[in-house]
Amino acid sequence: MEKKKYYITTPIYYPSGKWHIGTCYTTIICDALARFKRMQGYDVFYLTGTDEHGQKIQKVAASCGVEVKSYIDGVVDELKKLWQLLDISYDKFIRTTDADHEKAVQKIFDVLYKKGDIYKSEYEGWYCTPCEAFWTKTQLVDGKCPDCGREVELTKEESYFFKLSKYQQRIQKLIEEDKEFLQPTSRQNEMLNNFIKPGLQDLCVSRTSFDWGVKVPFDPKHVIYVWIDALTNYITALGYGSDDESLFNKYWPADVHMMGKEIVRFHSIIWPAILMALDLPLPKKVYGHGWLMFNNDKMSKSKGNIVDPFILCERYGVDALRYYMLREVPFGQDGNFTNEIFLKRRNSDLANDLGNLVSRVTAMVSQYFDGVIPKPSIKQDVDLDLIDLAQKTYPEAAAYMDEMRAPEALESIFRLIQRANKYIDECTPWILAKSQDGRERLKSVLYNLCETIRISAVILQPFLTQTPAKIFTKLGLQEGKLTSFESIEKFGADIAGLKVDKGEQLFERIDIAKELKVMDEILEQQKKIAAKSQAESAQKADNVVDVCMIGIEEFEKVELKIGTVVDCRKVEKADKLLCSKIDLGEREPRTVVSGIAKYYTPEEMIGKQVVVVTNLKPVKLRGIESQGMVLCASDEDGNLALISPIKSMKSGSEVR
Ligand code: MSP
Repeated sequence: MEKKKYYITTPIYYPSGKWHIGTCYTTIICDALARFKRMQGYDVFYLTGTDEHGQKIQKVAASCGVEVKSYIDGVVDELKKLWQLLDISYDKFIRTTDADHEKAVQKIFDVLYKKGDIYKSEYEGWYCTPCEAFWTKTQLVDGKCPDCGREVELTKEESYFFKLSKYQQRIQKLIEEDKEFLQPTSRQNEMLNNFIKPGLQDLCVSRTSFDWGVKVPFDPKHVIYVWIDALTNYITALGYGSDDESLFNKYWPADVHMMGKEIVRFHSIIWPAILMALDLPLPKKVYGHGWLMFNNDKMSKSKGNIVDPFILCERYGVDALRYYMLREVPFGQDGNFTNEIFLKRRNSDLANDLGNLVSRVTAMVSQYFDGVIPKPSIKQDVDLDLIDLAQKTYPEAAAYMDEMRAPEALESIFRLIQRANKYIDECTPWILAKSQDGRERLKSVLYNLCETIRISAVILQPFLTQTPAKIFTKLGLQEGKLTSFESIEKFGADIAGLKVDKGEQLFERIDIAKELKVMDEILEQQKKIAAKSQAESAQKADNVVDVCMIGIEEFEKVELKIGTVVDCRKVEKADKLLCSKIDLGEREPRTVVSGIAKYYTPEEMIGKQVVVVTNLKPVKLRGIESQGMVLCASDEDGNLALISPIKSMKSGSEVR
């Protein structure tokens, strides 16, 4: 019989290089789900990757003096190492700089344009000239650029728009009627009330203010902005838009798109609308999980907590971290991380409950039966409760996992583990061992315990990636039939006769007070390292001045000419702008818009000779195409002066 497919995705990650345990959350929960489904016999495709385009990353790379792609390559390698450390079992890692993806994105853009779902218009925003960035009014801080604090101009930029408004009704219907589509349900009202019902606006899907992105195929001065480039990764990763769409035909639509709540809007409104426009089936579920918080802060500014996954895994084990993440973020809500809760969880659940159970039971099998798991013999009523719970645990955990409730699934498993510990106390094996009859009964007790441990370890495999294998070794089990989900549908597997190996403790108990001090020391150490590396980057930045020195060949690329201002006027509704007509010895004077109205009146400008950069790409400012830039000098006291030749020159003379 053909296996049922299961396609699960994380969002593609920004290659920020700042990984903290919160950023690992989506990937870990998807990994647990993917592993669970694989064990249930599904044909799983688990996708993750990186979202590599945009101005921000371009700037970061530039500030490091590195070519942007090689900068990102380095960060992506780090991210892949992190996923390897956390045992993330993805089937594909897509990068939006992959040639296949870029090609498919262009194709999709073209199709949407030809269908009329993408059209060209003007994007109005607040433009900060030094930062070359557009901001919306709400992003401004005190009316100024949020990045550099300088004045901004209300400006228009030619852009392509996606007709999101056209899909308003279909999206509303989708969220209102398909209750499975957006989960948890609380997010449905959030989307309906905050975004959909107030009216969906068409979406700007291209930019001309930077060029690190996929070019619009028929208009390459535009790059395709985040929505169409990033969201489409979920289908291009499967070969959609390529010569081989077999994976797409097999796995699409996605069974689950998993993501943090802050990007649910993009996935539950914009993404389905793009798919509708492409006439493609919609994902079955979009799930917006809560955040892992650090003392009420989403960000990594750890506030006294170790949030570096590399350090946590190295000191406490990958499974301790995976367990915490999967156990502590309740369904749809935020979870909290502190060093102390982390250590306590590790001690109470992993060392005390699970670790103790395994070491007590393997020790008793070694002591009373030479390490060989006995055949069950005399049954008693007290067994029934344990057996019943052991048989219920898998279906219960599976039902929770179907609802993405990993914490509850783990709770069920640990209820069984705790029940087994209680069973030891109820049956008192150490007393049974003292008499002949008691030893007969002890056979059943220890068999039941070994079988319960096996069942627990089998169900734990999708959550913890290292401990179950260690438990199997301790029970003398090879990976195979008896470590599969099918083998735990019924209690009573054929494990009698297996030779146990007590071996080392699964989880050493930690002295919490002592360890918290060590953690503080690590944090101190980290602070020192951070301060040092900050100082080093400052030093590097100084050096960048050298790195940024340009050769004469580069300088020669800039075309500077003397121009004579033949006309000048103020730009309507823009206090700072003057629009000049400048004679550069060409057939017609050029139009140049400059932010100098505070310093020069139009009358003063007329007749002046100025230095103009003549080979600058034209930009539209307030709807006027500016065909060059006038050079000025400015000082820290806020003075500004035009640069003029000290004697009159012919218009169009070269400046060298
Ligand atoms: N690049 C976009 C997604 C585009 S998808 C077409 C993005 N990337 S991200 O790197 O910022 O986030 C990746 C995932 O990490 C998101 O699911 C985000 O919610 C998650 N997390 C980042 N910090 C988090 C916590 N503190 N807690 C839980 N998850 C959080 O968004």
